Order: sequence, then C-alpha cells, then structure tokens
Amino acid sequence: MSPSLEIRSFRSGDGPAVSEIITSCLREVNSRDYPDETITLMCEHFTVERIEQLAFERQMFVAVEDGAVVGTVSRDGNKVFTMFVQPRTIGRGVGRRLMRHVEMLASAEGHDFMETGASITGHGFYQRLGYIDVRTSETDFGLNYILRKPLEDTRP
Ligand SMILES: CC(C)(COP(=O)(O)OP(=O)(O)OC[C@H]1O[C@@H](n2cnc3c(N)ncnc32)[C@H](O)[C@@H]1OP(=O)(O)O)[C@@H](O)C(=O)NCCC(=O)NCCS
Repeated sequence: MSPSLEIRSFRSGDGPAVSEIITSCLREVNSRDYPDETITLMCEHFTVERIEQLAFERQMFVAVEDGAVVGTVSRDGNKVFTMFVQPRTIGRGVGRRLMRHVEMLASAEGHDFMETGASITGHGFYQRLGYIDVRTSETDFGLNYILRKPLEDTRP
C-alpha cells in the first residue's frame, strides 16, 4: 500500500470515479459469484446519480492513492454499505483501511458493534476482519450475509 493512501469524505465530483470502481468490481470480481443478469442489474443500479444520492443519505468515504480514488465505503451509524476497491488495487490493504475508518467513527459515537451486509464475494473479507455471521437475507441481488463485529477493540 502506498504511504500516500488517504481516507477522506466523498466530495462533489467523486461520483464518476466511485461509480466506475463499483461497476468494474461487479464486472471483474463479483461476476465470478453471480449470474450475468444480476451483475447487469447491479451495474445499472450504481449510476453516478445514484452514488451522489447515496452520498447524500449516508456518510460516504473514498480511499485516495497518488491522487486517484481507489476505493469506497459508506456508513449509516454502525451499518456498512457499498464497500468496493478498484480491482487493480485489491489485496493491498485498502479495504481494511476503509473498514477501520468507519469502525473508528461508529465506535467514537458509542456503538457496540458494526454490522454489514456481505455479498458472496465479500463474505470472506469481512470474516478475515473479525466479522461474525448473524443471519442471511435475500435481496434483489441474491443471497446476502449479515455479519457483526464488536467494536470495543477499535475504541481510540
Ligand atoms: C472485498 C474487498 C472490498 C476487499 O478489499 P481489499 O482491499 O482487497 O482487502 P484488503 O487487502 O484490505 O484485505 C484485508 C484482509 O482480508 C483478506 N481478504 C480480502 N478479500 C478476501 C476474500 N474475498 N476472502 C477472504 N479473505 C479476504 C486479505 O487477504 C487480507 O488478509 P490479511 O490481513 O491476512 O492479509 C475487495 O476485494 C472488493 O472490492 N471486492 C469486490 C467488491 C466486493 O465484493 N465488495 C464487498 C461487497 S459486500
């Protein structure tokens, strides 16, 4: 991971980069676990306009490396949403840094646990970070794992 990696809040103008990261992930990474029709539906969902709307409704963050947006995550309190890392950058610790960021914020607000929904593709990542399965749910995009992690370890 580059020492220049920075996590900052989503800004006006980040929408195209975030939309591009999400759709690249869906096509290049999540496609190994989902049928083409589901990937197409999800790509159609994450337009620039939709990202800007989500950034208004939740706290959205981006990871920036050498001036380029390479990952994103969102949170609403202790709930995690839209965690994606640019496929070229996967496996270099960006996802862990983004999750640490939202966990610290939720912990500072007094939440006892973090909760995330995970795709089949993202499930192992969350487990590696200490998240534990609590249930599964069915969404428009298929099976979703719900996982939680206690936050006492992340208190500043
Ligand atoms: C899942 C994702 C966000 C992980 O981001 P990343 O930057 O590659 O993750 P990191 O490099 O920070 O990995 C942190 C740890 O998790 C592990 N890990 C990452 N992805 C994993 C997976 N799918 N299964 C098991 N372990 C995984 C890493 O090996 C690393 O372990 P280590 O600390 O022992 O080395 C990224 O692969 C991605 O965007 N995937 C496609 C989109 C997606 O599925 N998003 C989740 C939506 S629910």
